[in-house]
Amino acid sequence: MVYLDHAATTPMLPEAIEALTAALAVVGNPSSIHSAGQQAKRLLEESRERIAATLGADGIEIVFTGNGTEAVNLAIKGIWWQRRTVAGVAAGSPASRRRILVPAGEHHATIDTVEWLVAHEGAEVVEIPLDELGRVRLDVLADELDRDAASVALVTMLWANNEVGTIEPVEQVARLTAQAGVPLHLDAIAAYGQVPIDVHGLRRATDAPRGAGLVALSVSAHKIGGPAGIGALVLDRSAAVEPLIHGGGQQRKVRSGTQDVAAAASFAAAAELVASRLDADTARMAVLRDRLIAGVRDVVPDARLSGDIGPGASVRLPGNAHFSFPGCEGDSLLFLLDAAGVAVSTGSACQAGVPEPSHVLMAMGRSEADARGALRITIGHGSTGSDVDAFLAALPAAHAQAARAGLAARATSFDRA
Ligand SMILES: Cc1ncc(COP(=O)(O)O)c(C=O)c1O
Repeated sequence: MVYLDHAATTPMLPEAIEALTAALAVVGNPSSIHSAGQQAKRLLEESRERIAATLGADGIEIVFTGNGTEAVNLAIKGIWWQRRTVAGVAAGSPASRRRILVPAGEHHATIDTVEWLVAHEGAEVVEIPLDELGRVRLDVLADELDRDAASVALVTMLWANNEVGTIEPVEQVARLTAQAGVPLHLDAIAAYGQVPIDVHGLRRATDAPRGAGLVALSVSAHKIGGPAGIGALVLDRSAAVEPLIHGGGQQRKVRSGTQDVAAAASFAAAAELVASRLDADTARMAVLRDRLIAGVRDVVPDARLSGDIGPGASVRLPGNAHFSFPGCEGDSLLFLLDAAGVAVSTGSACQAGVPEPSHVLMAMGRSEADARGALRITIGHGSTGSDVDAFLAALPAAHAQAARAGLAARATSFDRA
C-alpha cells in the first residue's frame, strides 16, 4: 500500500513507539505522593517541557487533552464561558459579549463546537469569508473587530487549512486581535510539524496584552508521528478558560483526570524529533509535493490545483497537494486509487455515509462540481519519490474510469429530469 494520506494521520515514528512502550512499564499515578507516583510525575512533566519547547511555550502552559478535537473544544467553549463570567470581564458587559468571529472553511472540530454554542448558549457566529486561495479576508476581520470589539468573545481559526493546505496570515490576525483586546485561538493541528510555531515569539511580535491576541493553540500528537489519543492545548499564562471536565483538579484544574504518562512521553519523543529536523524534512516534502503537482498536471491537464503554491512552506503546507478533477466524484477516485493500492483522501467529510461537497472549496468560491471532485494527497515524514511515482502511475486509469462514471451518472440524472 502506498500511503499518501498523512494529513488524516501519519505513522508513528519508531522513536515514539519506543518511548511509548518503555513508558507503559512505568508504575504510578503522577498525582500520587509516593516515590512511584513521583517517578511517573517526573516523566510526565519532562514530556510536557519537551513538547512546550517545540511550540515556543513553557511546560506549565501545556494542557494535555484526549485529542486535537478536545483541545479545540476546550479552547472555544472554555474561553467563551470564561469571557461570559464576571471574572472574565476587564471592561464592558459580559452579557453582550456573544460574538465569535470564525472564518469559513474551518475544521468540523471548530464548526460543530461553535454551532453548539449558538444552539445552546446564545452565541452569535460571524463568519469571515475566505479569498479564492483559502486565506481569511483580513479586511473583513479587521472591520468586524473595529465595529464592536467589546461584543467579541473570541476569534478562532486554523493556522493552516487541513484540506487545501493554505497557510493563514496568522501573524496579522494575532496582531489585529491583540490590538482589539480580544483572545485568539489557533487550531494548529494541521500546521504542527510542517511550519515553525513559536507561541511566545508570536505574542511578543504582536505586542499581545494579557488575555488578548494569541492565547490558545491546539495540537495533536497523531498528526506528527506520535500516538492517537493525546493532544494539547497551549494556554497562555494570562488566559483563563472554564474547564469542560471537572474532577481531581489536575493540570491547573483546567482538565481533570489522570494523565496518560506513556502517551505524553511518546508525544514528546515525536515532537522533539520532528522539531529537530523540521527544516530538512519540510524542504524534502515540498520537493516531493511539487513533483507530485507537476506530475498530476502532466497526466490530467484539466485537474485544478486548490490554493497557492510558493517556495517550501511559505504559503502552502509542504506536505499538501489538493486537486479538483472536473467531471469526477472525489469519492470514485478515492475508491479506484485504493483498489490500485494508493491511499489518498477527498479531505472533506461525509454526512451519514453520503459524500458532501467540500465546504472549504465552496468557501473559496469554487463550484459545487469542483467541490465534489476533490482529492487531497498528503505527504509525510516517511514518503518517498516512489510513493509519488506510484500515485502518478495509478492516476490516469482511475481518472478515466471516474470520469466515465461521472458522465454516466450525469446522463442518468438528465434522463430522469
Ligand atoms: C485542522 C484540524 N483540526 C482538528 C482536527 C482533529 O484532531 P484529532 O483527530 O486529534 O481529534 C484535525 C484532524 O483531522 C485537523 O486536521
